[in-house]
Amino acid sequence: MVISFVKRSPADAGAIAVFVPQGGQWPGVADALNRTSGGRLQRACRTTRFSAAVAEVCDVLAPSGITASRVLIVGLGEPRRAGAAEFERIGGTLCAHLLCSGETTLTVETTGLEGTALEPAAIAARIAFGARLRAYRFDRYRTAESELSKPTLAKVSVVTRLVNACQAKFNRLEAVAAGVFMARDLVSEPGNVLFPKAFTARIQTLTANGVRVQVLGEKKLKQLGFGALLGVSQGSAHEPQVVICEYDGTRAKRPRPPIVLAGKGVTFDSGGISIKPSAGLETLKQDMGGAASVVGVIKTLAMRKARCHVVGICGLVENMPSGSAQRPGDVVTSLSGKTIEVINTDAEGRLVLCDIMWYAQERYRPKVVIDMATLTGAIVIALGQEFAGLFCNDTQLATQLIRAGSDTGDRLWQYPMGAAYDKHLASLIADMKNLGPNEGRSIIAAHFIKRFVQDDVAWAHVDFGGMVWSEEDTALSPKGATGFGVRLLDQLIATHYEQH
Ligand code: BES
Ligand code: MN
Ligand code: ZN
Repeated sequence: MVISFVKRSPADAGAIAVFVPQGGQWPGVADALNRTSGGRLQRACRTTRFSAAVAEVCDVLAPSGITASRVLIVGLGEPRRAGAAEFERIGGTLCAHLLCSGETTLTVETTGLEGTALEPAAIAARIAFGARLRAYRFDRYRTAESELSKPTLAKVSVVTRLVNACQAKFNRLEAVAAGVFMARDLVSEPGNVLFPKAFTARIQTLTANGVRVQVLGEKKLKQLGFGALLGVSQGSAHEPQVVICEYDGTRAKRPRPPIVLAGKGVTFDSGGISIKPSAGLETLKQDMGGAASVVGVIKTLAMRKARCHVVGICGLVENMPSGSAQRPGDVVTSLSGKTIEVINTDAEGRLVLCDIMWYAQERYRPKVVIDMATLTGAIVIALGQEFAGLFCNDTQLATQLIRAGSDTGDRLWQYPMGAAYDKHLASLIADMKNLGPNEGRSIIAAHFIKRFVQDDVAWAHVDFGGMVWSEEDTALSPKGATGFGVRLLDQLIATHYEQH
């Protein structure tokens, strides 16, 4: 889909979208079209109980007196409340409406919009961004598709007086979309295709964007002592991988400590010997969503040449039962030297994270570490598909993340922590066990990870099993992988960890 910004509506406008506020007069462009149509547009709106709520659409087909194939009257809600999120939603909704409609061209009129919460150049760019995000498809494994379900929308033109300013803003957003799409692609891939080494190969494509990619294979991991991670992987026929992707856009002579982003990358989580029930097991290919979000945001940062220094580290393993698999009751020695009694082989994410986080802290001495993981089912029970759980040892970092979440739609809800939760990790024979009681499970899991956070490190843990996949279409994402986390981290870094 080609998206461009133009000064004037093209002759072959296709479908034309115009905005109207809730209450009040129709603005210039909408009003002019309404007059040309002999008042039919307003009649159509009245007929359908159109209320001009944000992203509400009244689709008037073949309006008389107008050459366009249709006019989409788009609600703006209360204009002074219409900000970036609202215009993205509008762009996404228009795209979804027309994507497979038979229409090939959409022209969005943004001139003359007044009193919105967003400057005019940003309005057009956000509409375009919303359309881009919603047009995503994962079609790799479809060999036949009926004509009627193929996308037809090929061209979106956003009419604005500020063509250059819009294009500049949109270029930056295109980098965000590319990162989101990379994450969605990775999460969508089935476990037989995206095993750890295949994931590594995908990450290596980032070298083309100036990212330094380094791979630790099984031999090296053994030498270094990644005992917790290796225990998870030992039942699988696939070799585990730890992949470090480093992006430094600071141009600093003496590199400053990076932010570390650590991603859980379990390419398939069967539970291992503590095997999961079979219903819904196919969804556990998504258990690498944390690693996908880390890789996606590194791609975004590199593409938009962000002035920051970020190290992504992904722990890539497959959790399988077999004759060589880890047993419940086994004791493993983590890279930090701490020993762990593996009560349940299905609580594997924390075993992967504790080793990669320890490695990254020893090697890069970061001041900020954020781990991204589809860590517990309990977080999905608690928060559903609306929020991810946030666990954090630093008030400022938590505030920054929560804000970045509400700005981007990757929303976070902070959980409490404390010694009373941590004590449930005590083991009879080792330094800790990997599973406590059912009560407070997500919090206790966070405490397990916290035991591997070094002094003076600001750390946040994002547990987002409910957010990685959507069971329904949303304004910015078709049903399926969402790319959660990419926008969150990009926004956090852009606002707080980038030199301007
Ligand atoms: N990856 C899962 C958690 C998960 C499951 C997230 C489904 C999203 C959707 C994790 O490794 C896990 O299996 N957690 C279990 C642990 C328990 C059985 C010991 C959980 O939280 O139920
Ligand atoms: Mn598990
Ligand atoms: Zn898991």
